[in-house]
Amino acid sequence: MSKDTLTIVDNRTEKTYEVPLFKGAVRAMDLRQIKVNAEDFGVMTYDPAFMNTASCQSSITFIDGDKGILRYRGYPIEQLAEKCSFLEVAYLVLFGELPTASQLKEWETEITLHTMIHESVKKFMAGFHYDAHPMGMLVSTVAALSTFYPDAKSVLDPKVRRLQILRLIGKMPTIAACAYRHRMGYPIVNPDNDLSYTANFMNMLWRMVEPKFVANPVLARALDILFILHADHEQNCGTNAMRAVGSSQADPYLATAAAAAALAGPLHGGANEEVLKMLDEISTVDRIPAFIEQVKGGKGRLMGFGHRVYKNYDPRARIIKQTAEEVFKVTGRNPKLEIAIELEKIALSDEYFIKRKLYPNVDFYSGIIYQAMGFTPEMFTVLFAIPRTAGWLAQWQEMITDPEQKIARPRQIYTGHWIKEVVPIEKRG
Ligand SMILES: CC(C)(COP(=O)(O)OP(=O)(O)OC[C@H]1O[C@@H](n2cnc3c(N)ncnc32)[C@H](O)[C@@H]1OP(=O)(O)O)[C@@H](O)C(=O)NCCC(=O)NCCS
Repeated sequence: MSKDTLTIVDNRTEKTYEVPLFKGAVRAMDLRQIKVNAEDFGVMTYDPAFMNTASCQSSITFIDGDKGILRYRGYPIEQLAEKCSFLEVAYLVLFGELPTASQLKEWETEITLHTMIHESVKKFMAGFHYDAHPMGMLVSTVAALSTFYPDAKSVLDPKVRRLQILRLIGKMPTIAACAYRHRMGYPIVNPDNDLSYTANFMNMLWRMVEPKFVANPVLARALDILFILHADHEQNCGTNAMRAVGSSQADPYLATAAAAAALAGPLHGGANEEVLKMLDEISTVDRIPAFIEQVKGGKGRLMGFGHRVYKNYDPRARIIKQTAEEVFKVTGRNPKLEIAIELEKIALSDEYFIKRKLYPNVDFYSGIIYQAMGFTPEMFTVLFAIPRTAGWLAQWQEMITDPEQKIARPRQIYTGHWIKEVVPIEKRG
């Protein structure tokens, strides 16, 4: 009979330990009993960048990186992108099941009632420099919401949590649009409750003097699909920040600001902005081979390629590529698409990329669509943060209600000096 355990022999002491496997994993605390003597701290695991450490149990998102599978709550991303709206998917991610028609109606109404921001939030945002990066504005303003909603501190109260979830999902597009219009020097547009989540976002971004903004339905649907694709992606850098900060019971505005700050980095959500810069730098198809050689020589990376988890084509990239065709029928073809397609073709047949299993990720094509829709590259990460807020909040809720979770506090292997005497400053040389 096989047993769900590991037998570990400590060659230092010749003692043998039997350690249970928990859902295929070793509980790191079970290793602590392995000691040389009573004073010994016990064995720890060492895993910089969490390459092989599960920090939680989660029932939200499933990824099989080798097969290129992504599911939210068991539903394949392809079906959700085809058949659902973003708010339906946000509900699914947050509450575990797709809403019924009446639940969806109520959910949409509740979110719509929370889209406005306090006038002082607008004044706060007016203080940013005219060319401030929209991610910096978003992160700071989301953190500032904490000062407007002190009730949010009661994170253990499910009713309070639900209210902050509505506020955050409702206000994220409003803050994002304010950040965009602040840079452009345009007046702020208030939300329009007649419009869908994405059509209203487009209204707040682009309405000028017309009495009623009418969003192009193809573009509004494309944005909705892009939001669905970005709603959650299990334990990545931003989500880990959300859980880590939330684990101190800081309110969800502060935790979401931390998650968004993590997302802002070029190796995470900032990658699609970098993809466009890269395509600009390449500028013509004939310069692709030289660029690829440069990357292979260790000079820079092929942005929008490679993923910590996907060692296959990112399923989101495939859906985005299809959505791009719909968008281009309305906007005209973005000339960068030709360069991107050729770059993908060359990279996918090159030994360097094949050997390392480097495939296009979600960011490779998303920037091209966003640009065709009229977004400037600085807005791309903001467009990622809006839908990911649903995922962050779902992960935060799961963490708060998980009896096994406590404040996140990793260990370290100390490599510094053991003990030193402080020399008076006049004698230091
Ligand atoms: C996403 C990413 C950070 C994952 O990194 P990771 O899991 O830590 O992988 P590593 O950095 O260990 O890379 C493994 C190998 O592939 C190479 N590699 C990874 N991504 C690469 C890329 N985009 N271009 C060229 N080489 C790349 C690394 O140089 C390394 O090569 P080596 O084994 O010869 O040293 C990385 O692939 C990357 O920087 N991609 C570009 C940025 C991007 O698109 N990010 C968006 C993610 S959704």
